[in-house]
Order: sequence, then structure tokens, then C-alpha cells
Amino acid sequence: MSEHSNNTMVELIKVSKTYHPNIQALSGVSISIRSGEMVFITGRSGAGKTTFLKLLCKMELPTRGLVEIDGLDIRKMRGNNLSYLRQQIGVAYQDFKLLTDRTVSENISIAMEVSYRKPQIIRKRVKALLEELDLSDKHNSMTGDLSRGEQQRVTLARAVANSPKLILVDEPTGNLDATTTARVMEMLIGLNNSGATVLIATHDHTIYRDVEHRLLELRGGQMHQLRDGVMQ
Ligand SMILES: Nc1ncnc2c1ncn2[C@@H]1O[C@H](COP(=O)(O)OP(=O)(O)OP(=O)(O)O)[C@@H](O)[C@H]1O
Ligand SMILES: [Mg+2]
Repeated sequence: MSEHSNNTMVELIKVSKTYHPNIQALSGVSISIRSGEMVFITGRSGAGKTTFLKLLCKMELPTRGLVEIDGLDIRKMRGNNLSYLRQQIGVAYQDFKLLTDRTVSENISIAMEVSYRKPQIIRKRVKALLEELDLSDKHNSMTGDLSRGEQQRVTLARAVANSPKLILVDEPTGNLDATTTARVMEMLIGLNNSGATVLIATHDHTIYRDVEHRLLELRGGQMHQLRDGVMQ
């Protein structure tokens, strides 16, 4: 992203997040994630997984501490810098945030238009993503009419459409059966193999049980490393 890019994509130093009135979601989290890593973040409901991801895309600001993405302090990012950052980060939200009165392909295309891609390139990309996620027959469906599992995959397609360098996914498989889960994971692993840094917040142990990627757990507001990762 930045011209001075080193090998660290995400750096948190002593980060705390307190929500009003006095909910301490994160307390003194320090973690460094290298460019090209794939990392699973687990932890009980309410442990702060979503909060952690929101800090990385500046949807929330830390109460204390430093958050750097690709060497840049998110607090100092404004204007062009901030929109550039947002273009380089793809986020699949836990609550989807889809435009429910728009079609599946519109939801993905709109996300791509901000990157000024040509209409025919957008159409091709949308088609390929929907095929990959087994959603081809939903191309023209309103996202509000889809099942939760289908909405979840549209959210993922939208997050990765612009081939971002940093992909944040929040519970990507919560509503999916085993076969569809495997398909989603295949996509994320493929993107990671092509160089994207991928962070996945999840309760679903089946998706991290049999892989060798790094595994973190949020507990008591702090980050614990349960497993080292090997770079794939
Ligand atoms: N906007 C907010 N205002 C107040 N409290 C919040 C807010 N967002 C999150 N919290 C609280 O912060 C804590 C961490 O929430 P967070 O959503 O990050 O957890 P999580 O690990 O993602 O949980 P889940 O597994 O259920 O998605 C919880 O106690 C939650 O109630
Ligand atoms: Mg969450």
C-alpha cells in the first residue's frame, strides 16, 4: 500500500477499546501481523473479535494505543489517504451491511465502481465471483430475499471484489453447511496464496482445526496466541 511498505501489514501496540459507558472490549492488545499471513481470531461471544476488526478499518477508533496498517497510523489517515486505505481493505461484516433492495450483482458492482473499473470488467468479475461461491442463479435476486447463508456469501464476494491487500472477514461461515463452508475457505485460502493478508474472526473451529495457519484467541480483553502460523 504505502511506498514505504515493510513486511508488517497490521501492528497494534497496547490498544484498548472502551465503549460507553464502561465496557472494556479490548485492553492492552499488542499484535503484529505480517503481510501475506492468514490468521484466525477466535474467542467467546463478546470477546472483542468484531471490535478488533473494526479498529483495523477505522470503523472504530482505539481509546488508547496505536493501530498501524501497512506502516501508517490510522488516526492520522484522512481524505485521500483514508479512501486509499479503504480501497485496499476488504471487509465482510458480521451483520452483512448489504443494500437489501438491490440485486446481488448490484451490491458487488457498486463496491467495484469506487475503484473506477470499466463496466465490462466489473460484469466479468461479478460473474466469476458468483460462480466461485455457488450463487450464479442469484445474480438478479434482491439480497433482502436471500437466505442468511446466501447473504453471507454475497458479503464475502463484495469484500474481495477489488482484490484488496488486506481482507477482514467476520464469521464468514456462521450460516453455512459443510460443503459451502469448504467453498468459502477455498476462496479465502486462494486469495491468501495470491498474496492477500487474510484475517478471519470465527467461532467455527472446523475451519481452523485442520490447517496450519496462525491462531489467536481474545480472552479477557487480551490477545493470546494459541498456535504459531507457518507462512504458506
Ligand atoms: N457499539 C458498542 N457499544 C457498546 N458496547 C459495545 C459496542 N460494540 C460492542 N460492544 C461490546 O463490546 C464487547 C465486545 O464486542 P464484540 O462485538 O467485539 O465481540 P465479538 O467477539 O465479536 O462477539 P460475537 O462472537 O458475539 O460476534 C461486548 O461486550 C459488546 O457488548
Ligand atoms: Mg463479532
